[in-house]
Amino acid sequence: MKIIVKDNYEDLSVFAASIVADLVKRKPNCVIGFATGSTPIGMYHELARLHKEEGLDFSQVTSFNLDEYLGISIDLEKPYEMDQSYARFMYEELFSRINIKQENINVPYGLAENPDQFCRQYEEKIKSLGGIDMQILGIGGDGHWGFNEPGSSFDSRTRVEKLNSKTIDDNYEAFYKKAGVSKEEMPRYALTMGIGTILETKSALMLVNGEKKADIIQKALEGPLSTEVTASAIQIYKGDATVILDKAAASKLKNI
Ligand code: GLP
Repeated sequence: MKIIVKDNYEDLSVFAASIVADLVKRKPNCVIGFATGSTPIGMYHELARLHKEEGLDFSQVTSFNLDEYLGISIDLEKPYEMDQSYARFMYEELFSRINIKQENINVPYGLAENPDQFCRQYEEKIKSLGGIDMQILGIGGDGHWGFNEPGSSFDSRTRVEKLNSKTIDDNYEAFYKKAGVSKEEMPRYALTMGIGTILETKSALMLVNGEKKADIIQKALEGPLSTEVTASAIQIYKGDATVILDKAAASKLKNI
């Protein structure tokens, strides 16, 4: 695992985007796993700039998003409807800004009639395309990867997961509050790739920003491997893992 510390969020974002851009240039038909949250926004905007100003070409790229709230989503044919789904987030922050093809975009569908069946098909689709070349990851305040809350097993697969109160509080502050949605109205469940699904990806790019993540990322990288901090699974990741932190997030690490 490579651990890289950048001075600030902007440097982290530009550097992370350069790693994704290298993959897209090296393998134009690559499969990328995207993540949501406030952390990757800077990287997504930099990728959009690389597309617009330097012609970075996403026309053959396939994407699979990590997770989605259960009970909300958007009609992929009408991507600009306002709601708090991760599908909308991805369209706003990245997909509408680059030339990825609509038919190559995969986001778990929060309105699936049969969510369990949908999750199995999502896994099958990832496999049928040869697996994910690069998975973008963050870390939740409770140490989660995707929406794999504490207690999720390391061999868990794409499934429905119940969100815990810390995650609901964090995501309320980061997104829902601004949109005028009350905490009571927020979804309580999500669809998420499992830890086992993530561990099978070929490379991982984990982004961690800000002082509020310093304690939890120290636990994930240097603490015991534990399902209490599901992102600690990075310690047993077999592919090529890169963790990029800003100085504030790295401030509690003992070994860099
Ligand atoms: C959500 C997402 C995670 C993400 C986390 C961190 O819970 N499901 O995939 O890593 O938020 O978000 P932020 O970057 O806003 O701290």
